[in-house]
Amino acid sequence: MIKYSGMGLAIIFSLLMVPFAYGQNSIPEVEALLAKMTLEEKIGQLNLLTPGGGIATGAVVSKNVEQKIKAGQVGGLFGVSGPDRIRIAQEMAVNHSRLKIPLLIGSDVIHGYKTTFPIPLGTSCSWDTELIQRTARIAAIEATADGINWNFSPMVDIARDPRWGRIAEGAGEDPFIGSAIAKAMVKGYQGEDISAANTMLACVKHFALYGASEAGRDYHTVDMSRIKMFNQYLPPYKAAVEVGVFSVMTSFNDIDGVPATGNKWLLNDVLRNQWGFTGFVVSDYTSVNEMTAHGLGDLQSVSTLALKAGLDMDMVGEGFLSTLKKSVAEGKITEAEITTACRRVLEAKYKLGLFDDPYRYLDSNRPKESILTKEHRQTARQVAAKSFVLLKNHNDILPLKKDSKIALVGPLADSRKNMLGTWAPTGDSDLAITVMEGFKNVAPEAEITYAKGANISDNNEFAKKINVFGPRIEIDRKSPEKLLKDALIAANKSDVIVAVVGEATEMSGEAASRTDISIPESQKKLIRALVATGKPVALVLMSGRPLTIPEEFDFPVAILQVWHPGVEAGNAVADVVFGDYNPSGKLTATWPRNVGQIPIYHSVKNTGRPASPKFEKFKSNYLDSPNTPLLPFGYGLSYTSFEYSNLTLNKTKINQDETINASITVANTGNYDGEEVVQLYLRDVVRSITPPMRQLKGFKKVFLKKGEQKTVTIQLSPDDLKFYNSAMEFVSEPGEFEVFMGTDSNCNLKQSFILN
Ligand code: BGC
Repeated sequence: MIKYSGMGLAIIFSLLMVPFAYGQNSIPEVEALLAKMTLEEKIGQLNLLTPGGGIATGAVVSKNVEQKIKAGQVGGLFGVSGPDRIRIAQEMAVNHSRLKIPLLIGSDVIHGYKTTFPIPLGTSCSWDTELIQRTARIAAIEATADGINWNFSPMVDIARDPRWGRIAEGAGEDPFIGSAIAKAMVKGYQGEDISAANTMLACVKHFALYGASEAGRDYHTVDMSRIKMFNQYLPPYKAAVEVGVFSVMTSFNDIDGVPATGNKWLLNDVLRNQWGFTGFVVSDYTSVNEMTAHGLGDLQSVSTLALKAGLDMDMVGEGFLSTLKKSVAEGKITEAEITTACRRVLEAKYKLGLFDDPYRYLDSNRPKESILTKEHRQTARQVAAKSFVLLKNHNDILPLKKDSKIALVGPLADSRKNMLGTWAPTGDSDLAITVMEGFKNVAPEAEITYAKGANISDNNEFAKKINVFGPRIEIDRKSPEKLLKDALIAANKSDVIVAVVGEATEMSGEAASRTDISIPESQKKLIRALVATGKPVALVLMSGRPLTIPEEFDFPVAILQVWHPGVEAGNAVADVVFGDYNPSGKLTATWPRNVGQIPIYHSVKNTGRPASPKFEKFKSNYLDSPNTPLLPFGYGLSYTSFEYSNLTLNKTKINQDETINASITVANTGNYDGEEVVQLYLRDVVRSITPPMRQLKGFKKVFLKKGEQKTVTIQLSPDDLKFYNSAMEFVSEPGEFEVFMGTDSNCNLKQSFILN
């Protein structure tokens, strides 16, 4: 027999009183509009098209866009920018379609609009969520000035496989910092008031688990336990929902055998019912159609599947537009299901204020005033410098004196095209500052001799694949031998060598997976030859992912990891190389020694047979490599040194609803002022499902003058102790917890407390 509690009855009663579940929060203007709409017009709102001009990542670019807008068959466009161009499209919708419904105007503003910031993986290494929020705010100011009202960002996919090219677009491997950054970015884009003319809808993507594609191959299968999903991969998407993200984009991959775009459990049960998401869900580029290739049926079947699963908008593929009406006629879906999806799209338009004024983002004066301002570029320079991670600094080679005699070499030392990084379609690489220019700006008194030294790669076939969006790898007319010889001549004339090496922009990003993530051989040869000169060598390493650099790391060199630094690249690199800014970045993704260690991340579990320091048979280890990574999560050096002492907890026992404070003293014991990211890791010693050995649960970035010391306190909340158990309940379990605090995920100062 089913028993209803008093509360349950009240809920059922209220549902009976209000025949539609949306009744309480419904927007009268939207309901009135829906009442006037034909089935075709409702389906039209679910159609997102691109007239071209952006990056066509799928099979098609939309055709007959103009006629479709006028016929009320388009809910939104993307890949169009500029108030004047967008006005033409908006006027077609508002003046020519029967119901005059304005369009959503989307765009991929992934790391800045025209003011391009570093790739997101780089920015995440700043561990500075306030600054990251500011970058998103600036991106929104610029994008909305150019007519955009909907942004396909933040990308919050957890990635633990650096072979996957899109690791560049997210915040790395960890759900805790990933969630903090997801929130910061949504807040930055959406601002305080979504109807303001300088805020836009954010779209958290790619829901879900896209970063876990098998073997790091893009778009590949994902098969994961619910426990792993909920504990490790879903938190950043959920965090975005918690701060009110207005839209969600599905991912290309399947989950439990059903692609995310048609996965009812994911979109309906988890996202809407469990997390309370009330916005709209858009597919990824042709991901509805792609379910046919996945083996789930013809276009009509997969479109039905997607709509029933809870997808509201179909990006580019026009499966909804071309099949939903037929499916209604055949009784496969109901008009009410289409109305629900349409309502969600219209509500977003209403909240943006488009019904009040469809042209609210279309002020032709704004681009000049708001885009690429001095202040925005200044922030780009600042965040770039803060994203750099000093991986090694043999003999304190860095920072350089500003009057040094420098051989500036390497295929990325004077490259403009490779500074912005992947997924910067709204940026303009011609505006980027090269490293050479940055050196001249920051250290005009330096004597610089430039030589390219090597091609990014000597492999023509590889270069062709990288150059689909323009020349990123330019194979020089000079032979590799001549390039190298010129570099050695430059080196001989100089006191110190700075080699700018690594990946071209398009060597990471979408559909840019690599099985070998080392520095290409052409550049390795250059590095070896430079090191052999015996002169001090600083490697400035650019890449969109962690690389495998065991050989280079063993050389007596300095290595500054700068990712792809954005429009102010060269200035920021020079700021750090010459010591105007002391590097403070910390890795947000573990750097493996070799690809055989992948997937690799800090929050691993123990096995029943943990590796021992000395080789022993029948232990969980490799015959040919240690288990430990080359560089751990959270790692990053400074020109100064920090010492940690005196880790204390303010309680030794707590109840389930209590907080606990961990404090540690950090002292700047070196010769420079500097910033340090103090990190806190937690270990749940015994619990009902196997615990990770440690997990990031707190961090604070502090500035310390040389000689200064500070006590840093991080509070753990009751939720920080919780996890999803086998019954998928979010709980904490009584027992001992260990707290580790320090400079990276290997930190070993430790204290324990008991949870009652
Ligand atoms: C990408 C998305 C992007 C979309 C629209 C897709 O290929 O996966 O991240 O938002 O294209 O450009």
